[in-house]
Amino acid sequence: MGAYNDSYNRSMQDPEGFWAEAAELIHWDKKWDRVLDDSNAPEYHWFAGGRLNTCYNAVDRHVDAGYGEQLALVYDSPVTGQLRTYTYAQLQDQVARLAGVMAGRGVVKGDRVIIYMPMIPEAAIAMLACARLGAIHSVVFGGFAPSELAVRITDAAPKAVLTASCGIEPGRTIDYKPLLDRAIELAECKPEFCLLLQRPQVTATMIPGRDLDWAECMASATPHPCVSVEATDPLYILYTSGTTGEPKGVVRDNGGHAVALTWSMHNIYNVQPGDVYWAASDVGWVVGHSYIVYAPLFNRNTTILFEGKPVGTPDAGVFWRVIQDHKVNVLFTAPTAFRAIKKEDPTGGLIKQYDIASLRALFLAGERSDPATLEWAEEKLQVPVVDHWWQTETGWAICANCLGLEQFPPLHGSAGKPVPGWDLQVLDESGKQVEQGKIGALVVKLPLPPGAFPTLWNARKRWHQAYMAEFPGYYLTADAGMIDGNGYAHVMSRTDDIINVAGHRLSTGAMEEVLASHPDVAECAVMGVADDMKGQVPLGLLVLKSGVKKDPDKVVAEVIALVRDRIGPVAAFKKAVVVNRLPKTRSGKILRGTMRSIADSQPWKMPATIDDPAILDEIGASLRKIGYAGDEKPG
Ligand code: COA
Ligand code: AMP
Repeated sequence: MGAYNDSYNRSMQDPEGFWAEAAELIHWDKKWDRVLDDSNAPEYHWFAGGRLNTCYNAVDRHVDAGYGEQLALVYDSPVTGQLRTYTYAQLQDQVARLAGVMAGRGVVKGDRVIIYMPMIPEAAIAMLACARLGAIHSVVFGGFAPSELAVRITDAAPKAVLTASCGIEPGRTIDYKPLLDRAIELAECKPEFCLLLQRPQVTATMIPGRDLDWAECMASATPHPCVSVEATDPLYILYTSGTTGEPKGVVRDNGGHAVALTWSMHNIYNVQPGDVYWAASDVGWVVGHSYIVYAPLFNRNTTILFEGKPVGTPDAGVFWRVIQDHKVNVLFTAPTAFRAIKKEDPTGGLIKQYDIASLRALFLAGERSDPATLEWAEEKLQVPVVDHWWQTETGWAICANCLGLEQFPPLHGSAGKPVPGWDLQVLDESGKQVEQGKIGALVVKLPLPPGAFPTLWNARKRWHQAYMAEFPGYYLTADAGMIDGNGYAHVMSRTDDIINVAGHRLSTGAMEEVLASHPDVAECAVMGVADDMKGQVPLGLLVLKSGVKKDPDKVVAEVIALVRDRIGPVAAFKKAVVVNRLPKTRSGKILRGTMRSIADSQPWKMPATIDDPAILDEIGASLRKIGYAGDEKPG
């Protein structure tokens, strides 16, 4: 039996033994009473009764073990031309001081702290400082608009907000402070204080009595020690798109998270302590939480924090330059980044200008990897390229090619095999397992392994409804797919209205709520249509209220501006079209799937339940006017 089968079977037959063994990889202040507490199923808790500190495991532990001089974090910022490095000892100093600043202002275990920061080392330091105090951080991605930030502030009710004066996008600086001030104005709860890092590019205006200067506070700070917390205490809340405008606050605990992520570094990524690991993502997303900050530091790696884009900062060679300069061993990014690079440098000529011999593997996630991109990456990099599948909720990979266990022949179009700990199954609508190779709902039999979310913040009922209710005893991933005869999983599409735009998870339902709020819009639909670079982009269809005389192009421009203003630039909502009517079933359900197939020029079938088939011709004509919908006819 191979190492993968051996490990997978052990994790299924004796999950408690399997994870208790993995738990030896981290430092515990007190060992657990029960490996798995199932007394409140389907809410499960790993390592109940155990105590630890996440920051101690990520930072101090390595200093105590004599690795204080090893590089912990390298900040490489082509958008500012800056390079900064932190050894584990330097990181410890900064994190302990920042924890001291927050503690001095009354932040204690269990308090929430919002982190609204660009990709600078202080963002990671802020997360670790919260973990050090047992405070619960909630990082909000910089590309969201003030109202999205406000919703998160209201839900998390933070004692403090940690921020910086600006973020830097190619060609423009984003002033964070006016966005934050507006968000606090809109939020129902107000933080007691804001700690702001002034970046040289922009000096923010401070509100006396509420806003504190980061550098000043750090200069006089007293380092704070690590606070021991329960394994089951929350480490962070990360808001992610749900099916409505209300985001879901995914909760991560301390113990299971530290165990699973540490285990994953050896077994999935084949990364040893001392190696250099680079997740080219953003700390605002789950990939950034797990694989820019926590996992590489738990595993005593050097992590790269990159403030730039795969192209245009300055060119499509920047990834290779970073790999060369910092001797990166493993790179993790989203397929869209590779599509962007491939578009600019199709022959891979820029790769040859750099020495990337240190690179051992490339991991891709965030959306399905298209075979053309995988082939290109394999051919140009000559290292294993692994598509792996996971979600904000799961915190780490459900399926992968576990390079540290046993490397399988790659299968393009598949996200690999279930990772040990994940009992992946495919069910039909009635909850029965489907035959191998048949598509159904991808579900995970409970309990989920350590590291997965135990619940949603302030929303246990919603958690149950969204994930646990449809198939009792299983976690609903909301992805559809299949497992083939060789055990490879294929993740095909979401079963809800979530779309993936450049690896960013967005809700079309949330966008529809914004469009519907426009005074001239009677009805609308938003769907994700195919895009060569971003994978998917949102496309809006609008039906105007009767009597509206305004130029339809003007309404389109206004709704585009409205989405940018309410959700943020990250929504990438740039296309919409006015139509006379929307196609619906006889029971009134909008046929988004059929319209999406028409827009993407994919074969489609006339839905048997359609109210008026002629509408689809009208929709096709409207879509063709804006560059979508080829000549595909109903199949
Ligand atoms: N703060 C403020 N605005 C931001 C932002 C941030 N942190 N991140 C993105 N934006 C803005 C962009 O400037 C852009 O604005 P624009 O409409 O004015 O051009 C918009 O949000 C969309 O951004 P993005 O989706 O990043 O598109 P892009 O065209 O700027 O870049 C890629 C395209 C493919 C290069 C880029 O999406 C990328 O690097 N993706 C990697 C994916 C990734 O990291 N995914 C995380 C999961 S692994
Ligand atoms: P997020 O929560 O932002 O990480 O987005 C999770 C969603 O992204 C999943 O539910 C999938 O729909 C999609 N996704 C992530 N990784 C993959 C992958 N490797 N293959 C297919 N879909 C993926």
